[in-house]
Amino acid sequence: MTALKNDRFLRALLKQPVDVTPVWMMRQAGRYLPEYRASRAKAGDFMSLCKNPSFACEVTMQPLERYPLDAAILFSDILTIPDAMGQGLYFETGEGPRFRKVVSTLADIEALPIPDAQKDLGYVMDAVSTIRRELNGRVPLIGFSGSPWTLATYMVEGGSSKDFRKTKAMLYDQPQAMHLLLDKLAQSVTSYLNGQIMAGAQAVQIFDTWGGNLSAAAYQEFSLAYMRKIVSGLIREHEGRKVPVILFTKNGGLWLESIADAGADALGLDWTCDIGEARRRVGQKVALQGNMDPTVLYAKPEAIRAEVARILASYGQGDGHVFNLGHGITPEVDPEHAGAFIRAVHEFSAQYHG
Ligand code: CP3
Repeated sequence: MTALKNDRFLRALLKQPVDVTPVWMMRQAGRYLPEYRASRAKAGDFMSLCKNPSFACEVTMQPLERYPLDAAILFSDILTIPDAMGQGLYFETGEGPRFRKVVSTLADIEALPIPDAQKDLGYVMDAVSTIRRELNGRVPLIGFSGSPWTLATYMVEGGSSKDFRKTKAMLYDQPQAMHLLLDKLAQSVTSYLNGQIMAGAQAVQIFDTWGGNLSAAAYQEFSLAYMRKIVSGLIREHEGRKVPVILFTKNGGLWLESIADAGADALGLDWTCDIGEARRRVGQKVALQGNMDPTVLYAKPEAIRAEVARILASYGQGDGHVFNLGHGITPEVDPEHAGAFIRAVHEFSAQYHG
């Protein structure tokens, strides 16, 4: 394997010294880029991009061609796992994800298979190895999965939801059934992420997009416990290097101390907490990734630069910060504004290192 030319992202996740703060963006390959929209039109639809490794590689590389990003992220989706469990994922234009089969009863959950990463999700593993070859050591490649709780919400609701009515009812009416579902998902996520690591992913992120919607007690029992279990089952070293693990619970700011105890190397932060305060709360345990409000990118470059400077100053001197948005970049953002954001991180952060 080619040696990494730029490893500041991996170093920052392990709280090792870097020259400038590394930066990438959640959803960096996506609809705000005209070249992404062109590739999607060529492939036909979103899932065809994901299922064809050469298309997945093409769109993964697009933001790296435009911007001096410090990491690439596998182009795929968190819903590949429920799809591989036989739920029948499809995307209705403008409507978000949908499933042909919905999980409603204990019997439905008992019947769910645990997908084999190679056999059932081989297209993802092929995408990872194709992208690694194409990157040729330029920057590290991030693999990812959804958290069991977040995946469960889509499987039980049959798609996106505002209130998680069915999932919450199942959690409180049939906690044993919910635990069985989450346990199957934790096993599936562990083998899926280990498959990605073996195929060449150099760090992995678990997206717990909907964990912050739970009560404090339910978060511990139904989301964090399963992420902890996954982290303890992951391959943590490959190709002679540590493989850092990032946990991102959106709206998890109230629970940072306990998330920092789950065994991961880094926590992703949304924009609702102050990153300097978060740093003091988690201490030396973990690195932090975040946390600019993605809607700042609707403002002009001067305002974007000021917000980058404010977040860097709040984190302060020293290592252990990966700059990112607090959630995914949105389709309406001007690609020039994304460029101003990324360049500002490198320009303003040198003073906080060395
Ligand atoms: O970050 C990256 O660039 C990698 C690619 C990536 C996608 N989805 C591509 C995608 C990643 C990491 C995801 C994760 C994902 N998918 C999450 C967790 C992260 C988060 O945003 O909280 C969730 C909840 C999903 C499920 C999902 N996929 C939804 C709800 C939607 C539709 C929402 C929307 O923005 O329309 C998707 C579709 C999706 N996944 C798109 C992309 C680029 C847009 C599809 C398109 O091109 O039409």
